[in-house]
Amino acid sequence: MKTLCLYYTRTNKTKEVMANIAKITGGDVAEYTDGKDRSGFSGYVGACFATVNNTISKVSVKGGIDLKGYDRVIIGMPVWVEGPCAVGRALIKKLGGAMPSEVYYVVTHMSKFDYAAKIKAMDKLLGKPSAGYVSIRTKNNDYIKDSAAFAKTLV
Ligand SMILES: Cc1cc2nc3c(=O)[nH]c(=O)nc-3n(C[C@H](O)[C@H](O)[C@H](O)COP(=O)(O)O)c2cc1C
Repeated sequence: MKTLCLYYTRTNKTKEVMANIAKITGGDVAEYTDGKDRSGFSGYVGACFATVNNTISKVSVKGGIDLKGYDRVIIGMPVWVEGPCAVGRALIKKLGGAMPSEVYYVVTHMSKFDYAAKIKAMDKLLGKPSAGYVSIRTKNNDYIKDSAAFAKTLV
């Protein structure tokens, strides 16, 4: 089962989570981006605006990855403004059709809230039902342990 773990990250939490899932599932890992620098406070504010205004359209996976070469794709997305980040939504909208039939979502967030319903709503953008999803808290929580528990269900 060839697995690709994709992530967008602003402060490296989702990157760590997806690298751990890739390690456990024996998958490859790649970053997707819209090319915008979102570091610091101005980057945070820009991310909020991009989410609310839904302005992101340019998004790509780094490293010339061919999605068709994989049996399953696991998409890591931080939560921005109470839902999967705008860059992740843009990725699904743009490349969902090119993804294999098995697609999983991993969202990371600070709050105790479980974003399961909002993650599942990504299926509308994907155009098919996702194979599974997990909501992982990165603040005051052992998120590496939680990501390992999820990854083990895929082995
Ligand atoms: C613009 C923005 C909005 C956010 N909104 C939320 C939110 O609504 N709920 C939440 O729990 N965390 C929210 N967060 C926190 C991130 O989802 C969380 O810290 C995440 O694990 C960061 O992942 P990263 O380090 O890969 O960027 C937000 C972060 C940013 C930058």
